Amino acid sequence: MRVAVTGGGGFLGSHLCEALLRRGDSVVCLDNFSTGDPENIAPLLAHPAFEFQQADVSVSVQVAGRVDAVAHLASPASPPDYLRHPLETLAVGSRGTENALRLALRHNARFILASTSEIYGDPLLHPQEETYWGNVNSIGPRSVYDEAKRYAEAVSAAYRRTHGVDVGIARIFNTYGPRMRPHDGRVVSSFITQALTGEPLTIYGDGGQTRSFCYVDDLVRGLVALLDSSELGPFNLGNPVERTVSELACLVLEMTGSTSEVKHHPLPVDDPVRRRPVITRAREVLGWEPEIDITEGLRRTVAYFAAHADRLAASAASIRGGQDETVPLAAATSASLKPQTIPGPAGAATGVASSTPGATVAGG
Ligand SMILES: NC(=O)c1ccc[n+]([C@@H]2O[C@H](COP(=O)([O-])OP(=O)(O)OC[C@H]3O[C@@H](n4cnc5c(N)ncnc54)[C@H](O)[C@@H]3O)[C@@H](O)[C@H]2O)c1
Repeated sequence: MRVAVTGGGGFLGSHLCEALLRRGDSVVCLDNFSTGDPENIAPLLAHPAFEFQQADVSVSVQVAGRVDAVAHLASPASPPDYLRHPLETLAVGSRGTENALRLALRHNARFILASTSEIYGDPLLHPQEETYWGNVNSIGPRSVYDEAKRYAEAVSAAYRRTHGVDVGIARIFNTYGPRMRPHDGRVVSSFITQALTGEPLTIYGDGGQTRSFCYVDDLVRGLVALLDSSELGPFNLGNPVERTVSELACLVLEMTGSTSEVKHHPLPVDDPVRRRPVITRAREVLGWEPEIDITEGLRRTVAYFAAHADRLAASAASIRGGQDETVPLAAATSASLKPQTIPGPAGAATGVASSTPGATVAGG
């Protein structure tokens, strides 16, 4: 199978590309590296079944040759990223999704959408089943992401109804693992970075808000199962074990042996209080469920971060807040882009915009 993966240079996308190559598929990865990292796919560039195209999928998605499946993951995903790129986030969720759907339509290919638990907003029902329609503030700062993904789901479902495109939708809940960027503002990466550098772990609110954390390998297995099916879903993909943010902080401190203290900051706008997926549908229809518990997943993630210690110091200094999905607007929008030189697919240097490592992701 030849699979086009948009956003394949990002955290989840690069793991998906790898998993597909491992089982013998060919991969065409499309990315503009607005929030991804060329290092994520550097080891794949020499693989004979891997192709890379630098492209903004909001502008167009063109892939020469056969395409059997399209996995549409391109989108800023962490709160600092989408608050820093509000219009780009709306564009890639809307125009980018339509461009990727048109590619699937032209090739009669399977199409899967990386949607998100954020479409449930600050849920009034707990835990969240796919039948729940959500509680989203359509004009709040986070709406650029939530509503873009809701539109992406709507247009994908409409392409299935109208054009018969073989669409499947994954609603991804918080996922963590190696290749998260240390300064991306998500809770796991922030806590590990802070713990390893001796900075205080910052928690918004009292830390009693919950999240459920899925290890990346589990999540990617779910995406592949969805890709191989012809189900629409939507499917919640996430780990149903719920943890408070404070519990996570304790686990990270224990695992890293860090003596960092914990500091509390006010809760940001529209921060969801509870998040936990019901995964019965994915279990029954896709035969999927997570296998890696938080202790093992954190152990692997801490090992990755420790091996990239050179990147951590600058990031730790920039992190003033900790948990993902919880970045105050004022701080997040003050960040900027700066050009960076990266190796292109043929080893040529390519100038692209990348998120600034020193960007402030949250303020007190
Ligand atoms: N990681 C999670 O916990 C999580 C949770 C819910 C949903 N998701 C979804 O999964 C997908 C991947 O998330 P991630 O965590 O890997 O984020 P990421 O930021 O690491 O990856 C996203 C990738 O998309 C690329 N991209 C963004 N806009 C683009 C554009 N216009 N054209 C081409 N490429 C573009 C970025 O450069 C990046 O490589 C996203 O769609 C996200 O919404 C992730």
